[in-house]
Amino acid sequence: MPKQATTSRRRDDVLALPIRLDRAIRSQSQQVHAALRAGIVDGLLAPSLRLPSTRGLAEQLGVRRNAIVAAYEALLSDGLIEARHGAGTYVAAELPSPQPPAPAAELEVRIPPRRPFTLGVTLVDPMLLKRLAAASRRRIAQAAPDDLGYSDPRGSLHLRTQVAHYLAANRGVRCDPSCVLIVSGTQHGLRLCIDALLSPGDPVWFEDPGYAASRYTLTTTGAKLVPVPVDGEGLVVSAGEKADANARAAYVTPSHQFPTGVAMSMARRIALLDWARRSGAYIFEDDYDSEYRFAGPPLTALAGIGAERVIYLGTFGKTLFAGLRLGYLVVPPALVSRVVAARAAQDRFPPAFMQDALADLMADGVIAAHMRRMRPRYRQARDVVAEALAKHGKGHLHLDAPSQGLHLLATLPSGAPKGAAKLIRERAGIECRLLSDARIVQRGPDGFILGYSGFAAKDLADAARRLARAAQEVLASASSSRRAAR
Ligand SMILES: Cc1ncc(COP(=O)(O)O)c(C=O)c1O
Repeated sequence: MPKQATTSRRRDDVLALPIRLDRAIRSQSQQVHAALRAGIVDGLLAPSLRLPSTRGLAEQLGVRRNAIVAAYEALLSDGLIEARHGAGTYVAAELPSPQPPAPAAELEVRIPPRRPFTLGVTLVDPMLLKRLAAASRRRIAQAAPDDLGYSDPRGSLHLRTQVAHYLAANRGVRCDPSCVLIVSGTQHGLRLCIDALLSPGDPVWFEDPGYAASRYTLTTTGAKLVPVPVDGEGLVVSAGEKADANARAAYVTPSHQFPTGVAMSMARRIALLDWARRSGAYIFEDDYDSEYRFAGPPLTALAGIGAERVIYLGTFGKTLFAGLRLGYLVVPPALVSRVVAARAAQDRFPPAFMQDALADLMADGVIAAHMRRMRPRYRQARDVVAEALAKHGKGHLHLDAPSQGLHLLATLPSGAPKGAAKLIRERAGIECRLLSDARIVQRGPDGFILGYSGFAAKDLADAARRLARAAQEVLASASSSRRAAR
């Protein structure tokens, strides 16, 4: 707490003022200016109140007289006080009514808790944090003047180059660093694509079920969602064409459909690209968790086979951690200038230090080593959940253990009553998204989208056991009450 002085009644021609000086402010004149301004704006010093002489107030407050003179001058410039010739200094007669600072209206900002099955949580790796801290310290300490000024809206060339190398080697996406943009995560990247490439009201195909955060971004920017169902081969392109063949874009998660986990078949990829070419539509490819593939060959990204229509979105939120807020876009060369212009209009360019530090770690192989270390741990987490659900679920929960990613989907049997999933989640006392939350059109049985990365195996096993038991109890009691009703 800063030391504060309170005024007292002193021999002066007016009463001591009910103001307090904040001694943490460096100069005495600023202390007095701030205290008087606050007193006037908050209504403690009424309009037309006569103020003490500069000498009198200096004595009252125990500060130099010059400080009072300077503070009065500043308040005169602010229009908060007025000097009446030969009659002294007064609080201005006309003042806006006092406006104490108000808190923001009650709003619910939901920050996902760090509990088993929350999505988007990754393991905290002390080794990685140590390397990242050292690299960013180094980058800041060694910054040249040019590193501290305005910069390229696409972000650091060093990181864009590293991303381009990574994508060519791992995702089959060949791009020039000039076509890569560093963004603060997938959601931001999608927003940028919408700003640059779409007009309000443009129809956009959206996987149903699909990723709620992207749905939110699209709807809040005025896009018209066209729900397109997903089956065992991914987005049903023919259904999209039937619903709206003239849509301007499609948002897809082809490598690992969110939340079903399906990988889009090659036939569907070709059909989707053909549609985009014919209709001049864009494809927004969200390749959010392909770094963590547990079995089978890595799937080539859509952008690797149809680069001219596809805008590729990648994130470090899954590879590393969500709070980093770093992701990237790969944009077809012909569209780069539009997306760069949209970025410049938003926040000009991304901050440099963390990008360069991350690029240093990519260049040194630290990020690749991190992924190698995390992959078996995530795979084990997946197995722990799948085994516990299989063991305790007694057929009440259906799941296909995914071969990639950081979540799995456990669905209820088709006869499960409406509302059962919510009841089960509540009874199990667990944190998770429901499949119905991810659906636009409600169809088929509900289910549980279970994030397994970022939690201890013991906690995952316990939560999975509670979920399986709750499912068993709720479904058994539903079927016995159905029998009794017959
Ligand atoms: C489908 C999907 N896309 C993208 C992301 C990453 O989003 P962001 O980079 O905005 O954190 C997630 C994270 O949970 C996701 O589930």
